[in-house]
Amino acid sequence: MTTDSATPPRRLESMDDLVSLCARRGFIFPSSEIYGGINGFWDYGPLGVELKQNLKARWWQCMVRERDDVVGLDSSIICHPRTWEASGHTEHFSDPMVDCRACKKRFRADQLDDIGSCSAREGSSEHDLTEPRSFNLMFRTSIGASEDAASLAYLRPETCQSIFNDFKRVRETARQKIPFGIAQIGKAFRNEINPRNFTFRSREFEQAEMEFFCHPSETEKWFSHWLAERLRFHRELGLDDEFLRTRRHEEGELAHYAKQAIDVEYRFPFGWQEIEGIHDRGDWDLRRHSEYSGKGLGVTDPETKEHFVPMVIETSVGLDRTCLAVLCHAYTVETFEAGDERTVMRLHPALAPLKAAVLPLSKKLAEPARKLHRELRRHWNVFYDDAGNIGRRYRRQDEVGTPFCLTYDFDSEDDGKVTVRDRDSMRQDRIAIDAVVEYLREQLENAG
Ligand code: GAP
Repeated sequence: MTTDSATPPRRLESMDDLVSLCARRGFIFPSSEIYGGINGFWDYGPLGVELKQNLKARWWQCMVRERDDVVGLDSSIICHPRTWEASGHTEHFSDPMVDCRACKKRFRADQLDDIGSCSAREGSSEHDLTEPRSFNLMFRTSIGASEDAASLAYLRPETCQSIFNDFKRVRETARQKIPFGIAQIGKAFRNEINPRNFTFRSREFEQAEMEFFCHPSETEKWFSHWLAERLRFHRELGLDDEFLRTRRHEEGELAHYAKQAIDVEYRFPFGWQEIEGIHDRGDWDLRRHSEYSGKGLGVTDPETKEHFVPMVIETSVGLDRTCLAVLCHAYTVETFEAGDERTVMRLHPALAPLKAAVLPLSKKLAEPARKLHRELRRHWNVFYDDAGNIGRRYRRQDEVGTPFCLTYDFDSEDDGKVTVRDRDSMRQDRIAIDAVVEYLREQLENAG
């Protein structure tokens, strides 16, 4: 990286800075903001939705399109309610909860370290906590006009259960043999007791999950394979090793379905936290769904004729958490010798919401600049901006992570060239207008 930055660039230290940039620039902001927001729910604005789409596209490309042994699925959010009995969620999917008898606030019993003081107790700042009790995190709803027990349904707390429900149908229609996987991206819902850290712990979020079905003798091999693949994915997004680590779950913290689990963690400003889980789910899900549905979900090896229930290795990444990690990682403040600063989001070009911006030096140059913009937007998401001074327009693009700014100036009319400014190095090159598409393609494809 070459910049004329006078002091080393500063990374994100306080989440408040990112929250404020995200709201100000339309990445992410509270849902239902005009009503004061709703705790644990977030909206992705024009730039946020592009960032998230790019992340999903990248996941889908490497997990589905580039593999012969993984196929895709897009299932309904509401499943047959028996699904959640079979999966164990109605029984086990709970967090321990306590209430303060004085201020009536509710907390997770296993996260009491930073709950602050009680505002309602005279003579003591400590909360007056109840004994912990179990709180099931699934959101309930009802199907149809009546609201009795028979109509009870749940918003899915994880996307993978419909993969197990659809396992037989997908395997047969996709003519897949074991080992193979089914991948899905979609919304999940958890009625978290304490949503916090911006989008990190939300009540509505998106997961990208892949369930890989294999022979029992191959679970270790595929567990290692998928762990390595998923780490590679995160590194290729630009999250470097200093900020990534894996953590194996202890026996006592394993989810009810897991035989072993390794979390991929990112070092957020609020500490190391999970962004993805790699789980060995054994035959828990297929066996339980067989039992509860009465449908056989075992397979027969066409060569050996062995009949077995496949084992499942799962990769489960939170898209909101990964977006958050990517945003935290990209956030950089540079201070220059003259004392001025720029905030630059060093997003990986594949994730950047805008790939380039066309900036005519003067409104008088709007016509040819717009022509260039029209040409470029056939290939990428490209912004056009002719308002304000050019320095300020560069800074606006830096702040949203646009890798290239193309300035159409008065010389462009004569030499047929534009100035292409690189976001990170701020280097400027004159490139022939005819060659800009090729130039950008090469730069964007070869990045990182
Ligand atoms: N199917 C397995 C499963 O759901 P999990 O560890 O509970 O496993 C997987 O969740 C991923 O989903 C997590 O690594 C995290 O990225 C994301 N996730 C879970 N709860 C979340 C929440 N409340 N808000 C945002 N993301 C969440």
